[in-house]
Amino acid sequence: MKKVSKCVFPVAGLGTRFLPATKASPKEMMPVVDKPLIQYAVEEAAAAGITDMVFVTGRTKRSIEDHFDMAYELESELEAAGKQELLDTVRSAAPSGINCIYLRQQKALGLGHAVLCAAPVIGDEPFAVILADDLMDGEPPIMRQMVENFDHYGRSVIAVQDVPRSQTQSYGIVSVEAGGPDFQRVTAIVEKPRPEEAPSTLAVVGRYIFTPTLFKHLRLIEPGTGGELQLTDAISALLADEAVLAFNFDGTRYDCGSKIGYMQAVVAFGRKHPEIGTAFEAHLRALDLPRK
Ligand code: G1P
Repeated sequence: MKKVSKCVFPVAGLGTRFLPATKASPKEMMPVVDKPLIQYAVEEAAAAGITDMVFVTGRTKRSIEDHFDMAYELESELEAAGKQELLDTVRSAAPSGINCIYLRQQKALGLGHAVLCAAPVIGDEPFAVILADDLMDGEPPIMRQMVENFDHYGRSVIAVQDVPRSQTQSYGIVSVEAGGPDFQRVTAIVEKPRPEEAPSTLAVVGRYIFTPTLFKHLRLIEPGTGGELQLTDAISALLADEAVLAFNFDGTRYDCGSKIGYMQAVVAFGRKHPEIGTAFEAHLRALDLPRK
């Protein structure tokens, strides 16, 4: 099986949960301390050895392209002012050695449709999918853990996490066979089931590696939950062809598609930030003092 060298970033979503912040700028450009969510996602893919970053974009997403491009005016001004450190920061927005490829999803028909848009670029090879609003923190980085699993077993891999039963309606939910502590074989997957109907509480988070067989099923699926073409439904059909593994990653996931998850990420990344970590920690401790 070929190595995973391409990653799809579906970034055409509207980000309605963060309006008005996302009225004119993409939710993927929201910063956690000083880097936008999409940069964390691209860095995670690059750390897994992935070189081709395939963005499936939509209207109002131009700033994502600009972010990974050269910023001539800014760079020449910083250069002229001798601000080397800032210049390095600007230039490091795109990890070295990567290619960025942009595709437009004409209509927001669902996550499954967004991934299918990337089919001509992916071709007949395995590929990763990262949903940038799931910010993952782990060492080794989560996608790297998944690529290592894929290199070993050659099976599609989906990152999963246990969630409270009351939250199953926010996720794809898998049922699995008994297996090892790190991963199990998926026996069924269903998109956003009601708590009383959910087959388990193992939720899919936004990291996937697929064999190219997935595309066959993405082409066949009908609109599902919410009237959208669901990635989950194509995975469900894939299960009839090949084994798919649920992967219990080592690390923390922040749901930056929700306000509370986003704030938790800002606090966690702020605390360990090399420049402001110590001062921010002191601030948090001061907040803990009993109020007068
Ligand atoms: C999507 C997927 C869902 C998955 C989730 C992870 O849902 O459809 O299966 O569990 O991402 O974040 P969304 O959050 O886009 O509604």
